[in-house]
Amino acid sequence: MSLLLPLPLLLSAMLAVQAVATMEVYVPDLPVVALHGRDVTLNCSFSPTGPFNASDVTVFWQLTDTKRTVYGYSEGQHQLADQAESFVNRTGLFPHELGLGNASLLLRKVVVADEGSFTCFVRVKEYGSSALFLQVAAPYSKPIVTLEPESNLRPGEEVALTCMAYGGYPEADVTWQDGGGRNLTENVTTSVVANEEGLFSLTSVLTVVLEPNSTYTCRLINPLLGEEGNAFVTITGQNISFPPVALWVTVGLAVCLLVLLVALAAVCRRKIKESCEEARREAEEAKELEEEESKTAMTLLKS
Ligand SMILES: *[C@@H]1O[C@H](CO)[C@@H](O)[C@H](O)[C@H]1NC(C)=O
Ligand SMILES: *[C@@H]1O[C@H](CO)[C@@H](O)[C@H](O)[C@H]1NC(C)=O
Ligand SMILES: *[C@@H]1O[C@H](CO)[C@@H](O)[C@H](O)[C@H]1NC(C)=O
Ligand SMILES: *[C@@H]1O[C@H](CO)[C@@H](O)[C@H](O)[C@H]1NC(C)=O
Repeated sequence: MSLLLPLPLLLSAMLAVQAVATMEVYVPDLPVVALHGRDVTLNCSFSPTGPFNASDVTVFWQLTDTKRTVYGYSEGQHQLADQAESFVNRTGLFPHELGLGNASLLLRKVVVADEGSFTCFVRVKEYGSSALFLQVAAPYSKPIVTLEPESNLRPGEEVALTCMAYGGYPEADVTWQDGGGRNLTENVTTSVVANEEGLFSLTSVLTVVLEPNSTYTCRLINPLLGEEGNAFVTITGQNISFPPVALWVTVGLAVCLLVLLVALAAVCRRKIKESCEEARREAEEAKELEEEESKTAMTLLKS
């Protein structure tokens, strides 16, 4: 009786006769996306030709590429003797659904390493199998943009803007824009490093020639989760110091202006003094003249 055989043998038997297998087994055509750390249901259903009991059903889930056992079920019980260690305590069926033709697998606490193809084998009287693809996604932290160096920047200098985000999966697309929405992604170097859980830390460096009062935005797009966030840095006049040449020109101009003003003041004072003295002298002369005239008049009168 084949159901009494150990599961791998049973599977071999199932596979051996696969060429004449007649039962349809359905799984999602599109990849199943699961969030890192969450549970996921890998849907698998079957439609045997006649009525059957749940205890007649054998279900076997396997990694398609490595053929390692994810989960086994037969005679109304788990068959976990040769279950791959990474799936221990993380798998189960929905027993009440089996009788309805539902052999979906519950996989708990999904990790990045789970990503890949899973094959669902089902046997009632006939058997069949189908494979689905599991994709793992994890959201990135909100990106942060930093500027190096932070101050004493000079217009026209090249500066490195760094955008960082952590703990995401899979690799995100990074795009950079300036305040006018211009795509700056051309001059960007993006690198990713995986941690022990397989989650990525992403660093994207944009090199730009500085212009005052400009904004640079780093936008992160997780291909499985869509846009995840953006961060920007605005470079204002405060970040940018006076360049030395302009500074010296300014100081020089100021000094020239001061000297000019002082000289002008001195000239004016002298001019004012001179004109005052002249006025006084004229007044005195006029007085003298008057006196002389009156003297003359008196002399004229006397004579
Ligand atoms: C699975 O669960 C059992 C019982 O809770 C526990 O003793 C065992 O260490 C767990 N195994 C793994 C690999 O987590
Ligand atoms: C199978 O059962 C699971 C768990 O209850 C459910 O999410 C899924 O939709 C069912 N599949 C079908 C085809 O009914
Ligand atoms: C990229 O850098 C080069 C040289 O530094 C520059 O000529 C070019 O304009 C930059 N591209 C963008 C989109 O900023
Ligand atoms: C920006 O430019 C890069 C490379 O030049 C390109 O790969 C990317 O698709 C562009 N992004 C947008 C939003 O246009």
